[in-house]
Amino acid sequence: MDLDTLHRRYVLTPWSAQASLNPPVIVRGEGSYLVDREGKRYLDLTSGLVAVNLGHGHPKVVQAIQDQAQTLCYAPPSFFHDKRALLAARLSELSPWPEGARVFFTPSGTEANEDAIKMVRHLTGRFKILAAYRSFHGSTHGSSALTGENRRFSAEPAIPGVVHFFAPYPYRSPFYASDPEEEVVRALDHLERVLLHEDPSRVAAIFLEPVVGSNGVIVYPQGYLEGVRRIADRYGILLVFDEVMTGFGRLGAPFAAQRLGVAPDLITFAKGVTSAYVPLGGVLVREGLAKRFDQEVLWAGHTYAGHPLAVAAGLAAVEAYLEEGLFERAHRLEGLLREGLRALYEKHPFIGDVRGLGAFFALELVKDRATKEPLSPWHAPLSPAVQALLRALLREGVYVVAKHNILLIAPPLTIKEAELEAGFQALGRALRGLEVEVR
Ligand SMILES: Cc1ncc(COP(=O)(O)O)c(C=O)c1O
Repeated sequence: MDLDTLHRRYVLTPWSAQASLNPPVIVRGEGSYLVDREGKRYLDLTSGLVAVNLGHGHPKVVQAIQDQAQTLCYAPPSFFHDKRALLAARLSELSPWPEGARVFFTPSGTEANEDAIKMVRHLTGRFKILAAYRSFHGSTHGSSALTGENRRFSAEPAIPGVVHFFAPYPYRSPFYASDPEEEVVRALDHLERVLLHEDPSRVAAIFLEPVVGSNGVIVYPQGYLEGVRRIADRYGILLVFDEVMTGFGRLGAPFAAQRLGVAPDLITFAKGVTSAYVPLGGVLVREGLAKRFDQEVLWAGHTYAGHPLAVAAGLAAVEAYLEEGLFERAHRLEGLLREGLRALYEKHPFIGDVRGLGAFFALELVKDRATKEPLSPWHAPLSPAVQALLRALLREGVYVVAKHNILLIAPPLTIKEAELEAGFQALGRALRGLEVEVR
């Protein structure tokens, strides 16, 4: 059986109707590129799933995994382990809290959110949780309950106690606001109303992606997160930032919390912590809260919590970010991405909006700039037009992830300027092809 047939016959691919799949067979990764078995190279403009922040095959991380595999591949989470302690200490240093933090390791992002749900309920003795529409927090049932889009529905009724609210989205204001300031005032008013109707004394936490990830790279206008922090404090509610996408330099700082100047109480992370080379996630809990678990039992755990191969990869990845100045580099990339994508906007009417921060941008695609009708509808699978665009990009040798009508442009922080420029050119050609096809 050839490999395509074998894959099709035996593997179930996530979030897909299997018969529609026809992807390349990837055999290698080199820097900003994935390479298929024919040797064709694909420029990775979405860092895998906004995760491979160091690019593919970073030698320092590969070496660390090899070294760890030679010495110890598994240790029970109940034992202490050198790399686990060193990585946790590093993450505490990089956290936004002067008091520092403790780290609860998980195998993935969704499990980090599951455990954060347990923790905020334990820490407050309260039950309800608020989360935003247009959000993604993972695919297990608790994280699905938090999620505010169609990847939640297959898990419903998921877990009880989660209430959704609308957060700012200036391009399609849910509050009929005419400018970002008005959007912030109305969004905060809405959040407080939702809280009051739920009884704030029953609410444990508000979960938010500090910059919305796969649902559109929505950068909240200035003042919103500050306002959410004030509201949370007013009612003794904990604030949790889901930094699974925004952490580890994506926004030009260790965490979005620093770039945006608002500190939550807990941070969930995954993806970039190991540049996605080995599965690892976790919850950072600020010290003032974490010390409660000195005497009270932390009722959560995983066989792979703080897995030696994962924490060794994490430690090496974090060192690489710092040694190579990659958090700063994301600031340089921000200028290049804004300029390059804005130039595409000027030429291509399918682009309704360009937005982002750091090395995290989105192109929001529309049928018509005046009506803003999305090029792929909200609750349906990707439209034929967006699928055609992704196919054209693959033919061009460019890999980009799309969710709804959003193209996620989030290259490795190590991408070279010439590679990025080549990516813009390919995006332009693919968009032009689609315009010609539709007309
Ligand atoms: C913001 C956010 N939270 C959580 C998750 C889930 O992480 P994982 O896929 O590691 O379970 C994702 C995955 O894309 C994410 O983008």
